[in-house]
Amino acid sequence: MLAAGHMATGAAHQTKFLLEESQLPRRWYNIRADMPTAPQPVLHPGTGQPVGPDDLAPLFPMALIQQEVSEEPEIAIPDEVLGILSLWRPTPLHRARRLEEAVGTRSRIFYKYEGVSPPGSHKPNTAVAQAYYNKQEGRTRLATETGAGQWGSALAFACRLIGLECKVYMVKISYEQKPSRRSMIQAWGAQIVPSPSEDTQSGRAVLAEHPDSPGSLGIAISEAVEDAAGREDTAYSLGSVLNHVLLHQTVIGQEALAQMELAGAFPDVVIGCVGGGSNFAGLAFPFLREKIAGRDIDVLACEPAACPTLTRGVFAYDFGDTSKLTPLVAMHTLGHDFVPAPIHAGGLRYHGVAPLISQLVRDGLVRAEAYLQNDVFASALVFAGSEGILPAPEAAHAIHGALQVARAADDAGEERTILFNLSGHGHFDMSAYDDYLAGKLQDVALDEDEINRALHAIEGLPTPA
Ligand SMILES: Cc1ncc(COP(=O)(O)O)c(C=O)c1O
Repeated sequence: MLAAGHMATGAAHQTKFLLEESQLPRRWYNIRADMPTAPQPVLHPGTGQPVGPDDLAPLFPMALIQQEVSEEPEIAIPDEVLGILSLWRPTPLHRARRLEEAVGTRSRIFYKYEGVSPPGSHKPNTAVAQAYYNKQEGRTRLATETGAGQWGSALAFACRLIGLECKVYMVKISYEQKPSRRSMIQAWGAQIVPSPSEDTQSGRAVLAEHPDSPGSLGIAISEAVEDAAGREDTAYSLGSVLNHVLLHQTVIGQEALAQMELAGAFPDVVIGCVGGGSNFAGLAFPFLREKIAGRDIDVLACEPAACPTLTRGVFAYDFGDTSKLTPLVAMHTLGHDFVPAPIHAGGLRYHGVAPLISQLVRDGLVRAEAYLQNDVFASALVFAGSEGILPAPEAAHAIHGALQVARAADDAGEERTILFNLSGHGHFDMSAYDDYLAGKLQDVALDEDEINRALHAIEGLPTPA
């Protein structure tokens, strides 16, 4: 094993580190088996007692419920899922040489590029698995929410290939900002409506009170859960937050471990952006396995200052959605009725975060930073101008995080080996770039009063141990 930061000469001039299709990981890595502190139980909102598999059965297939609570360190990936993942996986790992030159850093920067999937992000890694298990257990239709549209297109794609119907509730602000995502979802045969919608009780309730609501992930989740709970043929599918979703994403980090070895390097710092937490977990969990075993790695989660769940939220039991339909989970939260400002990283506008990541932050294994969107877009353009790829605004938070780490190291006269997850491309986010280039992007400084107001929503809920 090479020391951190040491480059093997053979790989010294290489830009991309690629794996053969046969090297696609055959198993998902389950971090629950290695966590120093077990995550808190998920509670039934009516009884306050831990939920059992039967409580979740109306919403999810049993195979996914079992993965949700599994403590096995590894779970085999079904062949049919591997067959579809191999359409684009393994994804490339790049050494960002031109970015390093552009910013003049002494550090080495690597990125794992998930934008090569057909829908353009990491999201199909779990969409395909979820569609597969639902089909296996006889469901014919899935309902889901989508923020930026990446998840909705990933699930529409997966349902199309596996053979399921799909209905997508898309957060209204993104529905308006991203007409092409809408078309992509429809091209894969899914039905799509802006959320809040007239199609559900939850949607109608929000519209009655706030006819101009820009929507939020919390509201859209309520609509999709209500849809699934009301129909036998339909299950609910979530693109982030839950343990099984994070599990499915761990193909990213497992590939990256092998690719860093090809590069003759090992990261000192591993970075991802965090909305619900799935792409971050996908890259970071296999490296955290090494960290928990004693290796020194700084693991950094990057979030927007307009929705600073990990940096300014509280660790508490809260609902995953606005209408309080989901079970209670212990996580960092801003309160379930917090509606984040309509910033352009729509996929990061979520009031909570994955319970597994919250626990890892509490245990000091992961740290978090929050950034303003104008700073994030400035870094996105430095990246696009050197590496060529136009990043999704969500992924640009990880780029910004990597550049901050590199700058701090340069200031301290040190060098680091930095690895970040480029979770998607931004080809459907050009209106965001238009606004940035026209100087029209607002930086939202969330004040303490607004956070305190939103946190009233969780008063009276159970307190985590
Ligand atoms: C490209 C991209 N990156 C990141 C995210 C954030 O989600 P998560 O934190 O689950 O990775 C999204 C969500 O839509 C996304 O589209």
